[in-house]
Amino acid sequence: MNRREFLYRAGTLGATFTAFPFIFGGDTTVPRHPLDVNALASFVDPLPRPSVLKHEELRLSPADSKSQVPYYGLHMRASESKLHRDLKPTRIWGFNSTFPGPTLETRSGQGVFVEWINELPSSHFLPIDHNLAGAEPDKPEVRSVVHLHGGRVPPESDGYPEHWFVPGKSIVCFYPNNQEAATLWYHDHAMGINRLNIYAGLFGLFLIRDDFEDGLGLPSGQYEIPLVLCDRQLDQDGQLLYPVSPHPKAPWVPEVFGDVFLVNGKIAPFLEAEARPYRFRILNAANGRFFHLAFSNQMEFQQIASDQGLLAAPVPTRQLTLAPGERADIVVDFSKNAGEKIIFRNDNLSVMQFRVTSKTMAAVAAFPATLRPITRMAETEATKTRELLLEETDDAADNPTIMLLDRKRWVDPVTEDPALGSTEIWSLVNGTDDSHPIHLHLVRFQVLDRRNFYVAHYLRKRELKFTGPAVPPEANEMGWKDTVRAEPGMVTRIMVRFDGYPGRYVWHCHILEHGDNEMMRPYEIRPA
Ligand code: C2O
Ligand code: CU
Ligand code: CU
Repeated sequence: MNRREFLYRAGTLGATFTAFPFIFGGDTTVPRHPLDVNALASFVDPLPRPSVLKHEELRLSPADSKSQVPYYGLHMRASESKLHRDLKPTRIWGFNSTFPGPTLETRSGQGVFVEWINELPSSHFLPIDHNLAGAEPDKPEVRSVVHLHGGRVPPESDGYPEHWFVPGKSIVCFYPNNQEAATLWYHDHAMGINRLNIYAGLFGLFLIRDDFEDGLGLPSGQYEIPLVLCDRQLDQDGQLLYPVSPHPKAPWVPEVFGDVFLVNGKIAPFLEAEARPYRFRILNAANGRFFHLAFSNQMEFQQIASDQGLLAAPVPTRQLTLAPGERADIVVDFSKNAGEKIIFRNDNLSVMQFRVTSKTMAAVAAFPATLRPITRMAETEATKTRELLLEETDDAADNPTIMLLDRKRWVDPVTEDPALGSTEIWSLVNGTDDSHPIHLHLVRFQVLDRRNFYVAHYLRKRELKFTGPAVPPEANEMGWKDTVRAEPGMVTRIMVRFDGYPGRYVWHCHILEHGDNEMMRPYEIRPA
């Protein structure tokens, strides 16, 4: 099997990747055997809830010299975490030693400072590929910089991938939070090793609330629960296993799929629920897995928010697809399920279990029929359209597959340079066989449509020939998004207003293995 076939298999076999007899992880030379996940009991651990972080002090706001804003400290540390009752503690890297990290909560318009403090060890425990941009042998092994995904953040606090800092250092970021209520998340974004740092556990939730949303009477308090999803491979000792290619000098693999699913850092946990509605804030924090979620009894639920907050109205559904980086808030009404055990599944595998108590609860307030009004942007508002090719290509012998955005590498000069306040249409022309979740920093956008095109012709001539009609976005994609699935063989069009701040940001694929291997580009907002 040549490298390319191997990569192909690794990329498509997903969970069955562990069928390989040995997998080497990190710098170890001893073969590590994958854990027999079928021997692991399901639903034995209660669902943990990430703790909500308290601020340490108040500091003068940089935005207006009269007010004081909360100041938080988050320490990245090597630690251990019990992922399951029957597993030994697993080595992780986490914010304040936890996996996932603590949740930050704030309100729209309430700025906060966060000091990100790197207290990690000086060597990595996952396999670095020194061929990747930013991870060359002269770079320190352990580096981190933190990005607030979905945040409208000034460039100096946005976590630019090259603005990493090493153990013993920290940086203070200011988040103005001048945006609507939404489920955001913070995570590592270090150039060339981002996939490893996030796999190790460096991520957490960041929730913005606002008065409008509070006024809707959605389930809150103990009835509003985050479900942070990811998948991992583990070895027989319950330690994280990050797969590698057969080339010791080029260990990067194009995609990673785990055979255990974790919710809030536990494998297949259970939640004792009351027979009433709940709000779940779901984040797909996996490196490469798309989740296709449904309940075992096929019950209907309502999606009320996507990446950037509330939808115009609840979207009833029985199945929810979430690509890496995407979020969905759903309301699930268990009031007709008293005494039942319901499994939340990804495809046909268990993610977690809900045990609904047998006593029926007092009736709760009616669910709102409309949420936040959303004005759909008109195509005529756009002053520029950019056609951006997503492409997979063969490179030199030691690193045969790279994924490129618009045939450019990270180091190439900036080409996407919208003016501050301008509106553009970005046509994401996906010439690959994979769906790529494309994320833009700073902005929120609307999805216009998707349309099949003649791929081979485009790759030869750079000319779009459509082979079908434009397909409107799904009902749950009609709100504000910051990450969109660019489907294979399709042109996915998004409409973006570049509001916020002038300066340097990035856009990239949120399959972390892709982002680390050239599927990430800088973009620059020019002052108006
Ligand atoms: Cu969640 Cu640039 O990423
Ligand atoms: Cu982001
Ligand atoms: Cu991708």
